[in-house]
Amino acid sequence: MRVGVPKEIKADENRVALTPSGAAALIAHDHEVIVERGAGRGSSIDDDAYVAAGAHLGAADVAWAAELVLMVKEPSGEELRHVRPELVLFTYLHLAANEPLTRVLIERRVRAVAYETIQLDDGTLPLLAPMSEVAGKLAVQAGAWCLQATNGGRGILLSGVAGVRPAKVVILGAGIAGTSACQVAVGVGAYVSILDVQPAKLRYVHDILGGHVTTVMSNRANIEEEVRSADLVIGTVLIPGAKAPKLLSRALVAAMRPGSALVDVSIDQGGCSETSRPTSHRDPIYVEEGVVHYCVTNMPGAVPHTATYALTNATLSYALALADRGFEDAIDADPALRRGVNVADGRIVHPGVAAAFAS
Ligand SMILES: NC(=O)c1ccc[n+]([C@@H]2O[C@H](COP(=O)([O-])OP(=O)(O)OC[C@H]3O[C@@H](n4cnc5c(N)ncnc54)[C@H](O)[C@@H]3O)[C@@H](O)[C@H]2O)c1
Repeated sequence: MRVGVPKEIKADENRVALTPSGAAALIAHDHEVIVERGAGRGSSIDDDAYVAAGAHLGAADVAWAAELVLMVKEPSGEELRHVRPELVLFTYLHLAANEPLTRVLIERRVRAVAYETIQLDDGTLPLLAPMSEVAGKLAVQAGAWCLQATNGGRGILLSGVAGVRPAKVVILGAGIAGTSACQVAVGVGAYVSILDVQPAKLRYVHDILGGHVTTVMSNRANIEEEVRSADLVIGTVLIPGAKAPKLLSRALVAAMRPGSALVDVSIDQGGCSETSRPTSHRDPIYVEEGVVHYCVTNMPGAVPHTATYALTNATLSYALALADRGFEDAIDADPALRRGVNVADGRIVHPGVAAAFAS
């Protein structure tokens, strides 16, 4: 099969949907890979690396002419003219929030498989997890930067030094992003506590990090006690399919020490603090109630090289299945991949997307 990898055109999107080693894997399965020139540049991957892997370079038109097109973000603008019947499109789509694109995919009878709805039998979302891991790990780095005096912070070094206490980091939510943040915060030597409503999640963190982290049941009183004394709060809570719960009231944020920091990873679901509002990589922080807030909605965009490798590690086996078996056979063989199909044969297939447009 011909597999195309266009360069992303969305603003500030520097990831690419396939790495050179991913291209080599597809080529080893007798597929032809066409990568748009410069597609990897934003992730610090040269065209030469794709050529060395056996891929062909071409213009956008050539990459889009392939039977299977791999992308990171949904097609938009100029890209929409390439969307045509029988095309298998594999990318993040987020269609429930994008009715115009959904209509185009239906009208043009595209077979659209969304990364974000591929779901294993246990309910987990394997193509969202790598980005939560990147965001969680990055949150500690972002928080350390917020705490620097030049950014309005208290001027605290997370690790402390000999004779000086480390910073106190409080992590709300012990899922993928929270556990990842916890590992980094413990690793740099901060004093870390982590809260969740699920005892099993806390037990897991306790097991992997032992005595280096304090696990605390999440409830109003415990959140207040932990947050008041925190230098850095990292919000990573998620209630699937719902807006993030507002665990931090404005009054609680105001009660934190001036120059403390809040990194709200949950901001893409509305944020877990009353004081959070979305920011961008170009202007990532603001100070409210004396606390430095970092609320970037696409945190992995700051580290596109790592994010590209993390994403493609997770997508490649599905891309290989689609290329090897063809769309119909591949989705018949794998229920997880089948749940990823959002639009096919001129209709919405995914129940969540259908529900979003039901009214
Ligand atoms: N800003 C970004 O760039 C970015 C990137 C990736 C993910 N995210 C977001 O990060 C959030 C977390 O993602 P994840 O994959 O780690 O989710 P997850 O489901 O693995 O973890 C969420 C955790 O929050 C816990 N939780 C729910 N309510 C709680 C409460 N009241 N108190 C304490 N804990 C509570 C859950 O029990 C769960 O363990 C999501 O909103 C996701 O969209 C943001």
